[in-house]
Amino acid sequence: MKKEQLYSGKAKTIYSTEDPEVFIAEFRNSLTAFNGEKKAEAEKKGFYNAQISKKIFEMLEANGVKTHYIKMLSDIEMLVKKVEIVKLEVIVRNIAAGSITRKYPVKEGTVFECPIISFDYKSDEFGDPMLNDDIAVALGIATRKELETIRKLALRINELLVPYLDEREIKLPDFKLEFGRQGGEILLADEISCDTCRFWDKKTGESLDKDVFRFDKGDLLKAYEEVARRIVPEIFE
Ligand code: TMP
Ligand code: ASP
Repeated sequence: MKKEQLYSGKAKTIYSTEDPEVFIAEFRNSLTAFNGEKKAEAEKKGFYNAQISKKIFEMLEANGVKTHYIKMLSDIEMLVKKVEIVKLEVIVRNIAAGSITRKYPVKEGTVFECPIISFDYKSDEFGDPMLNDDIAVALGIATRKELETIRKLALRINELLVPYLDEREIKLPDFKLEFGRQGGEILLADEISCDTCRFWDKKTGESLDKDVFRFDKGDLLKAYEEVARRIVPEIFE
């Protein structure tokens, strides 16, 4: 089924298939932080993230959000629609954590009255700088209409994810989305997993995401496994 490797990012490798409109995303065990400065390998990380993403994509699709997800080919291989990635990291924040608490006068844990959406330019070379609409349009990264669509979709995804995770005793301080263009439409792409979200245990506030690796907070795999147990319990049966 896999034809050739098209692209290898920090955590996933993309392959072509016989169908030019369909790719395979393989979730790897590698993980990085701080623009690739800190690197590690964690056994089963790819598996947990693939399964968590699959389950969340299915939930979003069931609620009318179009994603690139087609189906799983194996534990770590996801069949996806070919999209042209919009070079934006779309960040949604519900509770202050991470970079916003370092760059602005807001304390970690502050609950925002309304979700905050911001855009970073997806570029390792430039270190993912924050953008506004004017910069994104001027640089040809996205059109105003696309930005409007992406903002609406990000808010809708947040609206669906927050209660979905709350039922599983997980708080969602923030997360990152990527979108792609396909046949005149904008689809949710990439992944939604412990690598791309902040997940806090609802009772203890403990990090159950990549912050465990970023800031040496403990056992990364234990945290990812805990999220997988709550979102995809069936893989443990
Ligand atoms: P930040 O607080 O470091 O800006 O991160 C905001 C959210 O985006 C957080 O849930 C982690 C996620 N994220 C990524 O998925 N990729 C990245 O490269 C960065 C910096 C953050
Ligand atoms: N994905 C990022 C990197 O290593 C950083 C992060 O998620 O914190 O470049």
